[in-house]
Amino acid sequence: MSLLRAFIAIEIPNEIKVEIASQTAGLRRAIVHSVRWVAPENIHLTLKFLGEISSTNIDFLAQALKTESGQHAPFEITVGSLGAFPNLRRPRVIWIGLDTPPDLGKLRYNIEAAAARLGYPADDKPFSAHLTIGRVREQISTTEAQSLRNALENTKIGLLGTFAAKFIHLFRSDLQPGKPVYTCLFTTALGG
Ligand code: 2AM
Repeated sequence: MSLLRAFIAIEIPNEIKVEIASQTAGLRRAIVHSVRWVAPENIHLTLKFLGEISSTNIDFLAQALKTESGQHAPFEITVGSLGAFPNLRRPRVIWIGLDTPPDLGKLRYNIEAAAARLGYPADDKPFSAHLTIGRVREQISTTEAQSLRNALENTKIGLLGTFAAKFIHLFRSDLQPGKPVYTCLFTTALGG
């Protein structure tokens, strides 16, 4: 038995990743040290972060995902706008917003319940669909925090695209010095 870090996510089409990269290029150039920016190819919509899982649980998780995905038709997702958790004045996580149908919330809820049955604790925060593009480093100076607030305020991001999410994936995440490497372990189609 081995342990691996894993999460469940929806992939974003390449053309939307390219659009995000191009519309956030100025922001990334302006803020180099205070934020760890997510490489565009790594941007995804996380449905459930599992943490460390045992490799022997992959098949159980795959079976659960297949069951849940079979009960939901593909989703139309609209990508656009810039935001931050907890908010743009005190940013910790910087994200691109998503417009998702209520059914995605139900799928996410069911996945959370299925994962809990397999022993993975439920998230304590309510689900809010987003694409993380950057994580603010701990301990940035007051000046850096002000520059970041200014840069975020001056970045206007409109509609970036709409796509049909047709699949959900179980990813393995290997944390490496440069950027994490995500490897797809299992894919299941929405609607079965
Ligand atoms: P998020 O940043 O999109 O919210 C893969 O690492 C994904 O799992 C990340 O994109 C992140 O989702 C989520 N994730 C990583 N570490 C996490 C943690 N400790 N708790 C909750 N979600 C986490």
